[in-house]
Amino acid sequence: MHSLPERRLAGGIPMDPGPQDPACWKCNARSRRFLRNRIFLVLLAVASIAWLAAPRPTVAEEKKAKTELHHQMEQIDNGMKKLRRTLRKKESNPESLEWITKIEEAAIACKQMTPSRATTLPSDQQAQFVISYRKQMVQLIGTMVKMESALLDDDNAKAQEAYKQLKDMEDDGHDKFMQDDEKDAAKDSDKK
Ligand code: HEM
Repeated sequence: MHSLPERRLAGGIPMDPGPQDPACWKCNARSRRFLRNRIFLVLLAVASIAWLAAPRPTVAEEKKAKTELHHQMEQIDNGMKKLRRTLRKKESNPESLEWITKIEEAAIACKQMTPSRATTLPSDQQAQFVISYRKQMVQLIGTMVKMESALLDDDNAKAQEAYKQLKDMEDDGHDKFMQDDEKDAAKDSDKK
């Protein structure tokens, strides 16, 4: 029985121990260990390459795709933000009326759409969910029209009252009809 010194490459990777004495159990054991290490390293390399090459969603793809309803709601949001400022001054009423027209158009588009949450409900509840959503959107549009009418009378205080009602309707509508992950995202963006 004899022992050969185990030779290693930089990084501790074992080298082939070289010629063996088949009768020597120590040489054979070392040779088997060497083979096992080699196989392990090859498998590790293959797995790493496969992992690196695997198609991965981009950051944009990871973000949930926005629905058309979401886009239209953003139009309303944008108009409402402008109105918060312009409604304070009578001299801005022509501008306010333009913004009101825009949010009314967006709300009319929204009214016909189906909230994405509908598909997460049991099928026998979906139709009623969509009807309730649409009725609430009708009320929203009615209040936007009231705001418009008040401004046409140069009654900014009344228009601002309608504005507050719209903000309450927004909160209530989102509570009832938005998906939970959208609600979380909306809360985050409100904080910004
Ligand atoms: C002034 C009123 C409103 C504003 C400014 C508004 C604004 C928004 C905005 C910005 C979003 C996109 C998510 C976010 O980042 O917040 C959204 C989504 C949504 N809103 Fe509104 N919203 C209003 C009223 C309503 C009402 C009254 C309802 C229900 C009747 C409603 C139902 C929804 C739903 C269901 C979504 C998710 C879209 C989807 O399902 O794909 N919203 N809204």
